[in-house]
Amino acid sequence: MTAPILRRLADLRAKHSDWIRAGERIGVVPTMGALHAGHLSLVEAAKATCDRVIVTIFVNPKQFNNPEDLANYPRTEHEDAEKLAPYGVDVIYVPDPEEIYPAGFATGVTVGGVTDVMEGACRPGHFDGVATVVAKLFLQTGAHRAFFGEKDYQQLMVVRRMARDLDIPIEVIGCPTVREASGLAMSSRNLRLSPQGVEKAGRLHPVLMRLAGELATGKPFSPLAEAAKAEVAAAGFDEVEYLSLCSAEDLRPLDRSDGPARIFVAAWLEGVRLIDNVAAM
Ligand code: PAF
Repeated sequence: MTAPILRRLADLRAKHSDWIRAGERIGVVPTMGALHAGHLSLVEAAKATCDRVIVTIFVNPKQFNNPEDLANYPRTEHEDAEKLAPYGVDVIYVPDPEEIYPAGFATGVTVGGVTDVMEGACRPGHFDGVATVVAKLFLQTGAHRAFFGEKDYQQLMVVRRMARDLDIPIEVIGCPTVREASGLAMSSRNLRLSPQGVEKAGRLHPVLMRLAGELATGKPFSPLAEAAKAEVAAAGFDEVEYLSLCSAEDLRPLDRSDGPARIFVAAWLEGVRLIDNVAAM
C-alpha cells in the first residue's frame, strides 16, 4: 500500500505529535525525489532503527546555482510513491513550496569551514540552500534520526555541522554509497545520461579505486591525481572539475593520507555533473 502523501505542515505536525506522545522514534530520509536504490537503502536503514519513517520529497530551488539544472531535475512523484510502497514508510511529505519558503521568507543558514572546498567552492550558495532546507525539514518533521548517503559526503558533513551548531536534537546517520555493478554511484542525475554515457560513467569508480590503492603505497597525491585525471578524460569524460584528497573528518585538503581520508571527484559527462568519493586506504 502506498504511504499517505502530506503536503501541509499542519497535517504533518498532527501526525508526528501523536507519535511523539506515544514515545515513538521518528526517522527522516530527506530527498529531492527521482528515487533510486541509494535512497531506498536509506529508507531501509531508517526502518531498521526507527518506529516511524518520513520520506520527504522537495526539489529545493535554493540549492541549485544553475537554473537549467533545476529545470531539468527529474520530477517523478507518482513513481517515487510506488517505489516506496513495499517499505511501509509512514508518511511521504511533499511540502507545498510555501510550506518551505512562505511569502517574505528571509532567513538562510550558512555553514562555514567544511563548505570552503570542492562543492562549496564550485557551486556558490549551494550549501546555504541545502543547510537552510534541511534545517527546516528537521524542525518540521521533528525527527530523532536523519539518514543521508555518503555519496554526497560533503553534504553529510555540512548537515552534521549545522545540526550540532544549531542544537537541533537529531542524530545524522551516514549510509554507504549504493553502486551499479560497474561501480557507478547511484544518482538521480544518471537518468540524464545516454546508455553510452552510463557505460562511460561506470569507468570513473575504478579510476578512484586504483588511485586509492596507489596512495596507500605512500606516494604523494598530486602526481597520482594528474595521471588519474588523464584516465578519466580518456574514459570519455568532458572535464574533471576537481579531484581532491581531503581529511574524512573535516575535509581539510591533504597531499598524503595521514589519517582517515577520502578521494573526491566532480566530473562532467554529456552535460551532466557527476560526483563521487571513496575512502583513501
Ligand atoms: O541530497 C539531496 O537530495 C538534497 O540535497 C537534500 C538533502 C534532500 C536537500 O534538498
